Amino acid sequence: MRRVVFNQKGGVGKTTIVANLAAIAAERGGKVLVIDLDSQCNATQYLLGDAVADSNGTIADYFESTLAFGKLGNKGLDPFITPTAYNGLYLVAGSPDLEHLQPKLEARQKIYKLRQALDKLGEFDSIFIDTPPALNFYSRSALIASQRVLVPFDCDDFARQALYVLLDNIAEIQADHNEDLVLDGIVVNQFQARAKLPNKLVEELIAEGQPVLGAKLSPSIKVKESHDASVPLVHFDAKHKISQQFAALYDEING
Ligand SMILES: Nc1ncnc2c1ncn2[C@@H]1O[C@H](COP(=O)(O)OP(=O)(O)O)[C@@H](O)[C@H]1O
Ligand SMILES: [Mg+2]
Repeated sequence: MRRVVFNQKGGVGKTTIVANLAAIAAERGGKVLVIDLDSQCNATQYLLGDAVADSNGTIADYFESTLAFGKLGNKGLDPFITPTAYNGLYLVAGSPDLEHLQPKLEARQKIYKLRQALDKLGEFDSIFIDTPPALNFYSRSALIASQRVLVPFDCDDFARQALYVLLDNIAEIQADHNEDLVLDGIVVNQFQARAKLPNKLVEELIAEGQPVLGAKLSPSIKVKESHDASVPLVHFDAKHKISQQFAALYDEING
């Protein structure tokens, strides 16, 4: 299963969700690949920590190879996959170079190159794609390359307006490029279960028929600690409530 986690808003939990769902999938025995499409490389930092310096190249190297021909040409993704410290969990690292490559890739219409590369990778049970906080070449490539899209949402009113735009964008990509893309649903992150406003917002979204998932993620200092330690929650503190919530989210979208 290829899954992209996307919201064009930053700070809603995309990277946290990608890294932690992937770590759970690997911990349960799958062979799992994370692709970091964000030039800020937060998922790479989270999953590799200090080992980031030893990565086998980056996703930018792959995209760059699609711009070349002959021997230097498209190498596929295999050479750029780096194993993490966790059994079964692999990563194609992000890179700041994604920024300057973007206009070239757009001009040369490389929007299907991620999908083609993933079609050739047979051996992974699941693939999770982290995206930048923008509907740009890379997030479009990911939406075109995926079978599922999971949308994180933090409960504020601005985010709500952005959510409608986002759902329209996903529908457009489904219609134009990827009929097989299925919306997993909207996962509410940093949900304050005892506060009035977030509950009201969620109830309104459900009443509108939006596919809000039952599993919700609480705000927890453990998330920040696990980022700082570069250790996903399932390995950092598997018994903690937030880790259990991630496991419940994993079960709900794979159930
Ligand atoms: N449930 C949570 N509880 C506490 N902090 C969180 C939670 N989810 C995300 N964060 C923090 O919020 C910030 C943004 O999260 P991140 O996953 O990087 O979002 P995005 O990838 O959408 O920009 C990070 O500092 C992260 O540690
Ligand atoms: Mg991120």
